[in-house]
Amino acid sequence: MSTKPTISNFVALKGKRKIVCLTAYSAPMAQALDPHCDLLLVGDSVAMVVYGMDTTQDANLNMMIQHGQAVMRRRQSALVVIDLPEGSYEESLEQALASANEIIVKTGADAVKLEGGANLAPQVRFLVDNGIPVLGHIGLLPQHVAAGNSFRIAGRHATEASQLHADADALVSAGVFGIVMEGIIEPVATSIAQSCNVPTIGIGASAACDGQILVTDDILGLYDAFTPKFVRKFANLQEEIAAAATDYRNAVIDGSFPTKDHLF
Ligand code: KIV
Repeated sequence: MSTKPTISNFVALKGKRKIVCLTAYSAPMAQALDPHCDLLLVGDSVAMVVYGMDTTQDANLNMMIQHGQAVMRRRQSALVVIDLPEGSYEESLEQALASANEIIVKTGADAVKLEGGANLAPQVRFLVDNGIPVLGHIGLLPQHVAAGNSFRIAGRHATEASQLHADADALVSAGVFGIVMEGIIEPVATSIAQSCNVPTIGIGASAACDGQILVTDDILGLYDAFTPKFVRKFANLQEEIAAAATDYRNAVIDGSFPTKDHLF
């Protein structure tokens, strides 16, 4: 029996060893990844990766809850964080709390993530004050990228770099337990990682971050509509699926499947 993960155990990993995070949207994937990850993110990337939609802005609260429930059915020891989808938290503190509460109550997940810096600090503080742990997300914010537009790396200009530092500081003061830094130029991400007193999780940011996160379907070679530079493919499951489907097709057509072993 595994022990229930806690935010404080997660935060305590900072400075001890690198923190391992991946996305998960389904029960079987959660089961496969849980023993190897400190954190599973039910990311709003599910809209693009699973549903084939154009942007993460197409995710909605129901979608996040359904996939969150699926992941929670199989998680054992990894912290589970669910994205607040675009449009569910920006309008007011009350809207953010209602959405986060619905996610946490209906899924039993450990925390929510929202995209934004100093501008979203009031929301973060309100959620944390109401007992909901929040993971921040700064830099490249996919919820702000329109369909068809390419992702823009953050921090190239001095004003942008100091805004990113200010964003990280504001989120930490508001009470986030960690910050995802996405698509930020390396020196800026390194300097934020070194000055931040909560775990920083990089994705196209810096090896100096306390941990790393990638979209699981990207590292498995399951999603190739678009592969950012920061992805490394650790497997090519599309090829394996094609090979298995070809073998199955051949076996059905040539009559070698099913055999007596498969029949009643
Ligand atoms: O939605 C997502 O998958 C994310 C990660 C890539 C950080 O936000």
